[in-house]
Amino acid sequence: MRTALHALTDELRRLKTAGVKMVAVSDESVAALRRLVQARSRGVSVTALHDTPEPAESLAAPRAAAVPLKAYEPPAPVYTPMPPPKPVGEPLPPPPTVTLPAGDKQTRWNALLELVRDDATCKAHVRPGKKIVLGVGSVEAKIMFVGEAPGAEEELHGEPFVGPAGELLTKMIQAMGLKRTEIYIGNIMNWRPEIPTPPGEAQVGNRPPTEAEIRYCLPYLRAQIDVVNPDLLVALGATAAHGLLGFSAFKALGDVRGRWFEFGGKALMITYHPSYLLRPPIDNRKKRLVWEDLLKVMERVALPISDKQRSFFLDK
Ligand code: URA
Repeated sequence: MRTALHALTDELRRLKTAGVKMVAVSDESVAALRRLVQARSRGVSVTALHDTPEPAESLAAPRAAAVPLKAYEPPAPVYTPMPPPKPVGEPLPPPPTVTLPAGDKQTRWNALLELVRDDATCKAHVRPGKKIVLGVGSVEAKIMFVGEAPGAEEELHGEPFVGPAGELLTKMIQAMGLKRTEIYIGNIMNWRPEIPTPPGEAQVGNRPPTEAEIRYCLPYLRAQIDVVNPDLLVALGATAAHGLLGFSAFKALGDVRGRWFEFGGKALMITYHPSYLLRPPIDNRKKRLVWEDLLKVMERVALPISDKQRSFFLDK
């Protein structure tokens, strides 16, 4: 009997584990169970019959009735967890070493574009359907603007400054008497810094890049400066200025804006970011400050400046 009981209880356990709620019990098994119950009532130790008995009460049901097992608990649903969003500030590999082929500016720039698009770290930070962003404009430009990082529009189109801040930057360039295609516009970052967002949802808003992210992307900006070889750089906003001057170079952008610095052998003007001018209160006083910085830039590259241009944004 012991062997039969072992076999029976083993089978019942196996079925329970497999999720079976009810079992039909054979005459023979019911008889065996009855004997077990009777033995128990006579004081014979159950463990003497079976080391790990099933609860006799529930198993000793009348023949032919389906015998309920212990309350059935469905197996826990199996979820395939989504990979967690990358935390801000995760370690990055060492910055890339950028080596470009010999050749003319356009050939070297094209090679650089391929390099950055092939960069595994850049690719890993770009969401599906979005693009890595390198600079845009003329490789013969005398003036190179340097912004912060791509935003929603930029990562969609793969081009810097194509959103609202870009529209204003284009107007600023035109106010200088130039076309957007005559200058060069780059960014400190080649990808849009991620804000953890539930899977499948679009990122809302932007965050400034971390120092590590800037350090990673900086060789690509240096390579653009190397290829284009502009007369001067204009850093737009605190992030670009920090990226080029170093994080400990200044506390408030107001301390360095409107002044000349140097980066990679190039004169560097610091000014406010166009998005600062778009932020309320929108007033001509802020615009005038930026315009004064751009007048200095125009003087330095010997662009003609009319009286009208000199007096832009002086009215209230
Ligand atoms: N702001 C930036 O700094 N860069 C862009 O490309 C767009 C917005």
